[in-house]
Amino acid sequence: MSFELNNPLFEKLGMKYPIIQGGMAWAGTGHLAGSVSEAGGLGIIGTGYWKADKVREEIHRAREVTDKPFGVNVMLLSRHIREVFDVIIEEGVKVVATGAGDPSPFIEELHSHDILVIPVVPSVGLAKMMEKKGVDAVVAEGMESGGHIGSLTTMTLVPQVVDAVNIPVIAAGGIGDGRGVAAAFMLGASGVQMGTRFLASEESEVHENFKNAVVKAKDIDTLVTGEIMGNRARVLKTKMSKNFVKQERIEIQKPKPDADAIEDLENGSLRRAVKDGDKTTGAFMAGQISGLITELKPVSAILEDTWAQAEKLLN
Ligand SMILES: Cc1cc2nc3c(=O)[nH]c(=O)nc-3n(C[C@H](O)[C@H](O)[C@H](O)COP(=O)(O)O)c2cc1C
Repeated sequence: MSFELNNPLFEKLGMKYPIIQGGMAWAGTGHLAGSVSEAGGLGIIGTGYWKADKVREEIHRAREVTDKPFGVNVMLLSRHIREVFDVIIEEGVKVVATGAGDPSPFIEELHSHDILVIPVVPSVGLAKMMEKKGVDAVVAEGMESGGHIGSLTTMTLVPQVVDAVNIPVIAAGGIGDGRGVAAAFMLGASGVQMGTRFLASEESEVHENFKNAVVKAKDIDTLVTGEIMGNRARVLKTKMSKNFVKQERIEIQKPKPDADAIEDLENGSLRRAVKDGDKTTGAFMAGQISGLITELKPVSAILEDTWAQAEKLLN
């Protein structure tokens, strides 16, 4: 007997595994996302603050490795957002995922082009609001995850969101193998999203220093920046991130930096980690599950091994 998947969305997208590679600004390139979709998951390109041309280029790079559907994660606060949506529509992308910001003004337009809208939510309130606005599913993401985070854990958030909405709930945050996937299903999720696990894949295009840092990290090797200034983000402990946290405590006395300065700080420091592997000024966004990840694998093996272990447990 095999575990039955209960997610019509995943069937519609022709996925073999109920596993999404979460959009990751800079790190979620077209090559990585295309490779995940090709191997039977759903890959999502992370576009962060990219301009429309760069988004189009990465969509084309995904198409070089797959003709299966993949998604694009958009940063709704980006000043290029309108042009980014135009590219997504023109290119016939099948899924739009959103992180920070409210996708409601765009939902009708995206649906009219047969594009599924799947926002990430950190709370029950936002999940309910998104359901009311007509999204197709929500990703309930706990604060164990890499990147920007809310304040609830995956264990507490997922079942509460599942009870509150009638659309599919995808669990994210702290999932790195089949045990995590099985646990998410037990909490009522009908799919999972992983980010950190895919950073340490062969197809990931982050700098070698970044991949090695994830593989070497132990359970307690992440911290949260932006508790005081800017937005909360989970990153690996480095000299830079430890100093950042110290500095925040000093800076609290001063006026909050403006939105442009925060964008520059976050976007720039993540780019330096992903592209240059710069341990002095880069922000190595990664989740608490880094401690469980001890080797680089091809994405096909990540998907296959993870689901084989989950299915065994679930059955
Ligand atoms: C380097 C990095 C960058 C990320 N950037 C984004 C982003 O731009 N938009 C977004 O919605 N989520 C972003 N995330 C979150 C992931 O999509 C995913 O939900 C999260 O990594 C899941 O938790 P895990 O890291 O424990 O697997 C990012 C995560 C990482 C590690």
